[in-house]
Amino acid sequence: MADEQSSGHSFPGRAALPRDPHRPLYHFTPPSGWLNDPNGITHHGGRWHLYYQHNPYRPQWGHIHWGHASSADLVAWRDEPLALAPTPGSADEHGCFSGSFAVVGGLPTLYYTGCSGGGQAQCRATSRDLVSWQKDPGHPIIPHPPEGVRHDDFRDPYVFRHGAWWYLALGASLDHDRGAVLLYRSANGVDWAYRHVLYAATRTDQGVMWECPNVFPIGERWVLIVSVAPNLGARYFVGTFEDERFVPEREGLLDSDGGAFAHLTARGGDGRRLQWAWLNEQRHQDLIDPGGWAGALSVPRELSLQEGDLRVVPAAEVALYRGGAVLDGEVVLGSGAPHAFEGRHLDLGLRVEPGNESPVQVTLLRSPNGAEETVVTYHPEARQLRIDRSRSSLDARTNGDTQRAHLALRRGEGLDLRVLLDGSVLEVYANGRVCLSSRVYPTRAESVQGLVTAAGPTRARVQVWTMNGGIRAS
Ligand code: FRU
Repeated sequence: MADEQSSGHSFPGRAALPRDPHRPLYHFTPPSGWLNDPNGITHHGGRWHLYYQHNPYRPQWGHIHWGHASSADLVAWRDEPLALAPTPGSADEHGCFSGSFAVVGGLPTLYYTGCSGGGQAQCRATSRDLVSWQKDPGHPIIPHPPEGVRHDDFRDPYVFRHGAWWYLALGASLDHDRGAVLLYRSANGVDWAYRHVLYAATRTDQGVMWECPNVFPIGERWVLIVSVAPNLGARYFVGTFEDERFVPEREGLLDSDGGAFAHLTARGGDGRRLQWAWLNEQRHQDLIDPGGWAGALSVPRELSLQEGDLRVVPAAEVALYRGGAVLDGEVVLGSGAPHAFEGRHLDLGLRVEPGNESPVQVTLLRSPNGAEETVVTYHPEARQLRIDRSRSSLDARTNGDTQRAHLALRRGEGLDLRVLLDGSVLEVYANGRVCLSSRVYPTRAESVQGLVTAAGPTRARVQVWTMNGGIRAS
């Protein structure tokens, strides 16, 4: 990630941290300390502003502030001063939790959850320049949850405009048992009236608590996205929003198998609906501390509707990080030597012709003797995409679980895989329909080999590019 200029705050900056092979170059990470959810992302005044849950003091959750970075082009990012910090003795004394951005009455406004001894309450801050933020003296603006919702199950305001009203969707749990989104309404963005439950889990696999709701239109439809706690990833519902009721027609997983959380969308000036997610560390704290940073964001992803379901692909700007192509050709996999390359920061495209029945495999971060390797496989027969991490790291203090996603190719549809590797971050996208996010931590300096193979002869187009840390904004 390119720094346009150094950070305005006084904690160790990016340059002060030790060189670290696990640290991503083109995925956003905090300058130092901890990052979790993306917050309040907006394209405003010709610039992207990205806020995030941040502990500036250490690479561990706690003392939650809002960090801030901005970018003219989604490629080069500049660290900005901290946007929000907990105020002792106030509704956010224990932390400024997740929230969203809106321009209300011409004034840039952040809505967030304040956390204090009294529980969670919804707060507001305003700014003229999006850099320095003033908290509402009347906060919290929504001090208490409605009946049936606990004070600690009541967070992550997402504010949007529809018709004559401002709406605020809030993550919640009904009776501490069932994930839900609560709907509030306001004429001025300051005084909010509780309306009702916008939508709630109807099955137990939809989770106990819904966090970080997003509610937005795409084309003729509305989308509701929720992060499902505990630890069940992000789910989307496509449907209608009329008379203040959300009625789902389709449901799906935004990220399969729990590798990403706290998804947040934002609309670009060009109308694109982009989305980011938090990629948590999947290694023991003892391995995190020496590096001095924790947490990464996914690349920006573009969401759209395809045959009624949500389609997710990396935003076009991700290609601007590409350096040279190290492989590019039409090949027959599974016949002769595997197609090999090297690197820790790569963008790989693999397109397989329709009708293929052989499993195809992309091996990454492999040591020459194979003791370490991360293996991405598509099994046509099992209709499954997998990331096998059982040998990703020789250090047992890392997550070695295999991640899986269901992907049934349609008649006449080939496999279209996009693999983004960036140090410890791995994102795998398939056919716009499936996304698996992961973290891997090889221990050996020589674990940089990559291979593309197939179990039987398979015609494919393979492209591999090295990736850079960003392009300086002009
Ligand atoms: C999601 C979350 C949010 C909360 C924030 C606190 O990861 O638990 O619900 O606002 O993190 O950092």
